[in-house]
Formats: sequence, C-alpha cells, structure tokens
Amino acid sequence: MVVAVTYYGMSTFEGPMMSIKSVNAVSHFTDWTIGHVHAGALGWNAFLSFGILYWVVPRLWKTPLYSTKLATAHFWVATVGLITYQVSMWVAGITQWGMWRAFEPDGRLSYPDFIETVIRIVPMYWIRLVAAILFFSGVLMLVWNVVKTIRSAPANFAEEAEVHAPPRVRDVSAPGAVTPANTYDHAFFRIQHELSHGIHRALESRLVLFTVLVVLALAVGSLVEAIPMFFDKDNVKEIASVKPLTPLEVIGRDIYLREGCYNCHSQMVRPFRYETERYGEYSKAGEFVYDHPFQWGSKRTGPDLHRVGGKYPSLWHVRHMDRPASTTPGSVMPRYTHLRTTPFDTSLIGSKMRALRIVGVPYTDGEIDAAPAAIEAQAKTIAAEVEAQQGPRGLADKEITALTAYLQRLGTDIRWKIPQPQAPSIVVPAAPAADPVK
Ligand code: HEC
Repeated sequence: MVVAVTYYGMSTFEGPMMSIKSVNAVSHFTDWTIGHVHAGALGWNAFLSFGILYWVVPRLWKTPLYSTKLATAHFWVATVGLITYQVSMWVAGITQWGMWRAFEPDGRLSYPDFIETVIRIVPMYWIRLVAAILFFSGVLMLVWNVVKTIRSAPANFAEEAEVHAPPRVRDVSAPGAVTPANTYDHAFFRIQHELSHGIHRALESRLVLFTVLVVLALAVGSLVEAIPMFFDKDNVKEIASVKPLTPLEVIGRDIYLREGCYNCHSQMVRPFRYETERYGEYSKAGEFVYDHPFQWGSKRTGPDLHRVGGKYPSLWHVRHMDRPASTTPGSVMPRYTHLRTTPFDTSLIGSKMRALRIVGVPYTDGEIDAAPAAIEAQAKTIAAEVEAQQGPRGLADKEITALTAYLQRLGTDIRWKIPQPQAPSIVVPAAPAADPVK
C-alpha cells in the first residue's frame, strides 16, 4: 500500500507535468510515456490490488495467509521489477529525445538515420523485458498464495463469520457498537452520518443507476469540452488540395490498421526544427480532415510516416515490408511476408466508402460504383512500377500493393520541399584588390 500510494502521487504528478509543452516535447512519441503509464499501471494500480488482496483474502476466508514469506518475496520481486522497468524506459525515452533533436554545429542532424537511434536503445528493451518477467512472476506468486490460503480455509468459515460479525457501525444503539468517543450522540453528526450513508448506500446498491449516473457525469465533463470544437468549422482550416484517399489506398489504410503499424509509427510531424529537418514540412490539421480514425499515433519505435509518400521508390516498400533488415540493417520492425502473397479484399470497398461518407468524406455515388475499376488501374500502375525497378512480378492484386499505394500517398496532398542542407552562411571576405603601388 505504501508503494502504491507513493506511485499514485508520483504518476499523477508526472501526468500534468507532461502536459507542459516543453516537457511534452521530450515525453511524447518516446519511451518516456511507456515508462510513465507503466509506473501508473504497475506501481500504483497493481500494487494497490496486491495490497488489498493480501489484506482482504485472509479476512474473508477467516484464515491466516498461506505464506507471509512468499508475499514478502512478491513484494521485492515486484518492486525491483517495477523500478527497473521504469528506469529503463526513462533512459530510453530521454536517449531517443536527445538523439532525435541533436544537431551538428553546421546545422545538420547528428543522427539523420533514424535506425541509429533505434539501435542505441535496444539494450533498454532487453532490460525492460527482464523487468517485466520479474514483475509478472510476482503476480504468479500472489495467485499461488491466494489459492493456497482459500484452500486451507475452514469448511464452516462463513458461519463463523456470521457469528463473530461485529455490530454495524450505524447501529449506534447496539451494545459494543463502534462509536469512538460517542461521536454519533451529537445530533449534527448523526444527521450528517445518516445522510451520507443514505445517499451512498442508495447509489451503491443500484448498480445500473450508479453506472448511468457515472457515465453522465463523465460525458458532461468531456462533451462540454469537445462539442464546441466539432461545430467550430474555423478550428480546422480546410486545404483545397487535400483530397480523399483512392479506393485502393482505403484498402491499404485498413491493412495498416489491421497490422497495427500505428503502434510503432506516428503520422504527425511536429513544428520543431529537428522534426522538419528529419521528416519534412510539419503536419497541418487540414491534412487529416478525411482521416477516420486518425493515425497520429502515440509512440515512435520507428520513424514518423506522415511525409513518407514519395520518399522511396515503391520497390523499397515491397522489400522493406518483406524483410525490414534488407533495406535497413539493424531494424527491429517485424517482417510482413504475408502481404506479398495474400490478395487484397475488394468485396467491402463499397461499404467502406459509404461508411466513410457518413463521417464526412465526400465520396460520390459515381466514385463508389467505379471503385473496382479504379482499384485495378492503380494497382496495375504500382505493380508495373515495381517490375520496372527490377522487383518481383505479379503483385497487382496483393496486399503489399494496396499498402504501398497508401504509404506513397501519405503527406503528398500539400506541396512541400524536402529540406536541403543549407550552405554555410559564413561571410568569406573578398580578396583584397591588388595594390597598384606594388
Ligand atoms: C515493432 C515496431 C514496428 C511496427 C509494428 C512497424 N514498424 Fe515500420 N519501422 C519500425 C522501425 C524501428 C523502423 C526504422 C528501421 C527501418 O527502416 O526498418 C521502421 C521503418 C518503417 C518505414 C520506413 C520509414 C522511413 O522514413 O524510412 C516504413 C515505411 C514503415 N516502417 C512502415 C511500416 C508499416 C506499413 C507497418 C505495418 C505493416 C510497420 N511499419 C510496422 C518499427 C515498426
């Protein structure tokens, strides 16, 4: 309980700190956030649950805990696992941030290849794994201890509990009632006590009503903030050149979702110089108006993809998806070999486009009817491009082609230029004019 309360304090302090812009610049998209949420989930919530279980199970079953030693062992294994986990993620997060934003004195990025920053933190991922195994083995100790305790409970523990149940607190008249210093004799306290217990009990015992009221309270808190934003059209400036995805790209995007690419990739270039130097023009709100659900992501295990369209030839994506290490030695991205052999599914494209139309993507009936033909034409073009680049043949109906179509589209709806390394701005003094005297 002490660890839990400490972690409660630390993570709820860290949370609002991370909403400060300059702190968020470090934590967002890095492993810091992963460390933060695990400090909350493991240190605060899990430890709280452990503490409660060790306290309540022996009391409910009227039996001493099966093994206090095992519980102590659990405490230490979990505490060491927790701290190791958190520290490894903090170190990884700050390392990522430091490397992503490092510039050379002449203004170039120190680590222009993202993979350099990945390789540097791989040891931290191993430490994280060991820490997680430690923590999880502690949970197994708890389960074992609880099961053993319950098994060793006396057969008639429930009856005993009935007989020995202490008098209810609110029954102030009962002999031996728990009324420290006769608090409830005072009329004011008595009324207050009855009121709060009355309302509390009434809600607590009506689960459905209580749930509805909680949902209402939360909805007011969140919708009051959100609804004005939905109706304020000026909030997101529309950009005329931003168009809905083609049907093939819609299929590709769904493959992106299905494969969970967003777990490792963001699509959100922030307006920092170290991001625009690395990825290109920063993302504009108006570029995401047809993006449902948006793919901004929250973690960059791999680089941001919002401006990846046109960065590589299509063959690069075919090779990279098949075996990331073939294009990027040291990559930790998983292989997606099945994309090259599985044909993409076109049967739902009409429903998908109609669904997108409901949420505001302006597909016309004509475009929906023409979708199968459009898919075939675009897929053939990409497959031909891959073949022309000496790549594998026969990809025109494969998932990799739909995914490549989507990736090549990303971030290309507005015009922007790949940042060119700037010429050094040192003023070279002009050579002195020849001395006429000499
Ligand atoms: C486990 C994390 C992880 C997952 C999941 C993942 N990637 Fe990656 N991705 C990486 C890493 C790390 C890199 C950087 C090294 C490299 O290029 O392979 C990367 C690089 C890339 C690049 C090159 C970007 C550039 O600018 O050089 C693309 C494109 C890409 N991934 C697409 C995808 C797609 C599409 C998916 C889903 C099918 C996916 N990734 C899933 C980790 C991941």
